[in-house]
Parts: sequence; C-alpha cells; structure tokens
Amino acid sequence: MASPARRNQNRTDLLNPTTDPYPTVHALGTGALYGPPQPEHIVLILGVGPGLGLAIAQTFASYGYTTAIMSRTKSRLDAWAVELDKVARAARGTSSTAKEQPLSLGFACDVLDNGSIERAIGEAQAAWPDKKIGTAIYNASVRKRKPFLELPMDAMKDSVQASIFAGFTFLQTIIRSMKERNGTEGGNVLVTGATSSIRGREQFAAFAASKGGLRQMCQSVAREYGREGIHVAHVVVDGLIESDEAKSFFGFKDNQRFRDGTTLRPDEIAKNYLFLALQSPSTWTFELDLRPAKEHF
Ligand SMILES: NC(=O)c1ccc[n+]([C@@H]2O[C@H](COP(=O)([O-])OP(=O)(O)OC[C@H]3O[C@@H](n4cnc5c(N)ncnc54)[C@H](OP(=O)(O)O)[C@@H]3O)[C@@H](O)[C@H]2O)c1
Repeated sequence: MASPARRNQNRTDLLNPTTDPYPTVHALGTGALYGPPQPEHIVLILGVGPGLGLAIAQTFASYGYTTAIMSRTKSRLDAWAVELDKVARAARGTSSTAKEQPLSLGFACDVLDNGSIERAIGEAQAAWPDKKIGTAIYNASVRKRKPFLELPMDAMKDSVQASIFAGFTFLQTIIRSMKERNGTEGGNVLVTGATSSIRGREQFAAFAASKGGLRQMCQSVAREYGREGIHVAHVVVDGLIESDEAKSFFGFKDNQRFRDGTTLRPDEIAKNYLFLALQSPSTWTFELDLRPAKEHF
C-alpha cells in the first residue's frame, strides 16, 4: 500500500495539519471581501463604461470599498468617481472632508498601449499609498463584427492586443503587486469573458480568438497563483448586456426596454463579481457562466 506521502503526491499541504480555529462562515452577502480588510482594500476596474464596468464599481462602492476606475475617457470617470465616493462613504457611515482621501478616483488608460496599463495601475497605487489592490477586474475588450474574409488584420491585432497582450500586462502587474504588497492576505482577480470565450460564433473570429486566449491564460494563472492565495476567476457573459447602445442598435424608443430574461442587466451581472470576491479560499470558483433565461446555448 502506498504511503500517505505517495498517495498525496504534490499535496503535502494535506499532510500539514493546523490547530487554528476555523474562520467564521458568514451569511451570503455579508462579511468582508477576500483580501486586505476594507479600509486598505482597493477594488481596481479596467474597462469602465456606462454598462457592466460602472455597475461593478457601484456594487463594490455600495459595500464601502475604494474603487479605482479606468478607461480612456477621464472626464467621464472623474464624474462617476465623485458619485462612487459618496456611495462608499454612505456605506461606511462617514461623510467627506476636504482633507480625506477620496474613496474613488478615475485613471486614464488605453488597453491598446501596454505601458498605459502599467502606468494607470501605478498611479492608482500612488494615489492611495497606504492601501493595497485587493480586487482587480479586467473588463475591457475590442469587439469587431465582420465576415471573416472582410476582417482587416488591424481589427485582429486590436482584439488580440485588448484581450491577450493587455490581459497579460494587467495580470502580471496586478499579481506582482498582490505578491509584493498583500502578503498572506491575497486578493481577487476577476476577468470578464463573453460567449466568444468558449464558442467562436460566425463573424466574430478576431473577438473569439482573443477572448478564448484570455480565458486560457486565466486558467493557467489561476492554477499557478491560487496556491499562493490569489483567486483568479473568469466570468463568461453569455448574451447581450442591456445598454443604451444595445437598445439603439435594435431601434428601441426612449421608454422601451428589453423584456426580462432576454438580456443581462449590468447590475445583476455585477452582483456575481461581488459574490466571487466574497468567496473564501476554502471554496473558490474559477469560472461562472451567466446568461439570460431565454438565451439559446
Ligand atoms: N456588451 C455586451 O453585450 C457584452 C456581452 C458579453 C460580454 N461582454 C463583455 O463585457 C465587458 C464590458 O462590456 P460592456 O459592453 O458592458 O462595456 P462597459 O462595461 O460599459 O464599458 C467598457 C468600457 O471599456 C472601455 N474601453 C474600450 N476600449 C478601451 C481601450 N482601448 N482602453 C481602455 N478602455 C477601453 C470603454 O470606455 P472608454 O471608451 O472610455 O475607453 C468602454 O466604455 C467586455 O469585456 C465585453 O467583451 C459584453
């Protein structure tokens, strides 16, 4: 019969008991995010527009967390950051004074430029030198829909840049920061995928190649750094996200909306990011797939 050490190849952790008490199991939606405690915990989101990105920021701010929001349109981010600061303060039960650090800031970043990603993450860290990036969310993408033979190489390059090269830079920069600054507290890295992450639809060759590559990279990074306390998760958003852009594409009037169960609402998706970041290292999800009830899959 194989010795315990042999039966548990590569799992010497199972052979190393502790007498520490079990951590508390909190009721769903309560308790702190995994990672540094709330006062020190920055939730950084790259790819913040009026849809999912902003909904994610609002959800984390409503639990009192500091949010660093990033995209190309700095003026829009700055206006949202003022609101997010108020939401986070209300959740904490504190009011703002001029001297205090804001609980949200916007940072200009273009994922077509890897240097800009490193710079923006560095700026966020410098803005809150006493805090740590506890949760980082990669939500940006470039999606070009075209028949394959009409797809220009530049569209292919931009899609691959925005998901694979930018995702690579983001993951490396964030994981370095978490390893250097967070110690045993660890952190969460959540990445937004799409139907194309797992199924290449017609006319989405560039998007599918890039989202599929990003997903596989996340799997690799999750396996490598999970054991070091960094929770990497990938969210497959399998359907159309409700947005003004989507409504206008379908020719809806101002007072019209999609019927329930046909599209994904950004604030409903965002709750799942919170859920992932609340998970304890006892029970981590790598991948969630989310779709409206009426989606074909
Ligand atoms: N929309 C859908 O139906 C759908 C469906 C499935 C999956 N998804 C995925 O969900 C995520 C968010 O989608 P969303 O449509 O809801 O968008 P969103 O969260 O409202 O905004 C994403 C933001 O990313 C920013 N962005 C775009 N290109 C960028 C660049 N080069 N550098 C930095 N930021 C950039 C844009 O803001 P700026 O213009 O200010 O840079 C954009 O508003 C994406 O990963 C997407 O692939 C979307």
